[in-house]
Order: sequence, then C-alpha cells, then structure tokens
Amino acid sequence: MSAPLRLELEFASEGALREFAEEVGGCVGGGEVFALAGPLGAGKTVFAQSLARGAGVPASTPVTSPTFVLHRRYAGRVAIEHLDAYRLRSARDLEALGVGELIEGGGVTVVEWADRVAEVFPAHTVWIELDVTGPCSRRMRVRIPGCARPPGLARLRALGAARAARRGP
Ligand SMILES: Nc1ncnc2c1ncn2[C@@H]1O[C@H](COP(=O)(O)OP(=O)(O)OP(=O)(O)O)[C@@H](O)[C@H]1O
Ligand SMILES: [Mg+2]
Repeated sequence: MSAPLRLELEFASEGALREFAEEVGGCVGGGEVFALAGPLGAGKTVFAQSLARGAGVPASTPVTSPTFVLHRRYAGRVAIEHLDAYRLRSARDLEALGVGELIEGGGVTVVEWADRVAEVFPAHTVWIELDVTGPCSRRMRVRIPGCARPPGLARLRALGAARAARRGP
C-alpha cells in the first residue's frame, strides 16, 4: 500500500482531456473502478469514451451516454462496464443493477454521477471530479488510491506523477 495520489489538472481543450483519458485507458488491465463526478456537460461521458478507446474499444464501437439504459458494456482489451447513476435515487438502485458483480467481474467499471451513490464504491476506486472552467476548459481533480491491486493503479499513479512533474513551476 503506497500513499494515494491526488492531482489537480487543467485542460484547455476537449482534445487535451481526451488525450489524457486515453492514456488512462492505456493503463487499465481489469478490475479498476472509476467514479466520475461533476455537473451536466462537465465531460464525464467524454472521459469515459476516451478511456474506452485507450483500453482498446475500437473506434467503430460507439460509446454513448448510458443515462437512459443505465449500463452498457464495451469489448476492449478488457470489458468496459459503463454506468450512469443520474436517474437513480439511491445506492441501493445501483446495487440492484448488479454493480457489485460488475466490479468483481474482471472488467473496468466506469460510473458517471458516482457522487450520488458514493457508498457503493470499494477502497480501490479512482475518483475523478470534473469542473467546467470555460466553454472549452475543464478542471479535473483525481484521487488514485495507494492500493497494490488492481495493478493498473500503479501504472495510473506513475502516469499521474509524470503528468504532475511535467507541469513545472
Ligand atoms: N475540455 C473539454 N473536455 C470535455 N468536454 C468538453 C471540453 N470542452 C468542451 N467540451 C464539451 O462539453 C460536453 C461534455 O459533455 P459530456 O456528455 O461528456 O458531459 P457529461 O459530464 O457526461 O454530462 P451529463 O451529466 O449530461 O452526462 C461535450 O459537448 C464536449 O464537446
Ligand atoms: Mg454523461
């Protein structure tokens, strides 16, 4: 167990945020959980789409917001379980969708509006909070826990640390 890594990242464009999310997707190996928070239009779906691309979901597979269907699965190097809690009333509704089994299922779980159902998330969850700072700019607060497993977390901490170092003074 190492220390959790907290980052605050600024993105001046959608392309820059997509590029980072794809790098995040390149780190996953299965078992990771991403809890996404932030207001309408903050970029949660954009992040999930690009993460899925980075995790090997082909460009021919549309990755769309699961607001109405609540859950979609995409096949990449590992399965991507994409959920949206916007329409749920409580964590119990998410549990009824089988989120526990999805998290244990060996794929990567990505949940939009995760703050509405925060109780369901295990300790190894990566929390990502997005804020709108301008028409094309976003702030991202990331918390990567210090857990040893799943191994993708160590790769994510290395990615985050490199990113923080690159920002400079
Ligand atoms: N830097 C940026 N990063 C991400 N999206 C951006 C950025 N700049 C502009 N956008 C636009 O913001 C919108 C983000 O939409 P998205 O559906 O990803 O938000 P969301 O957080 O999933 O919203 P919802 O809560 O409705 O599901 C898109 O229209 C995208 O083109
Ligand atoms: Mg969305």
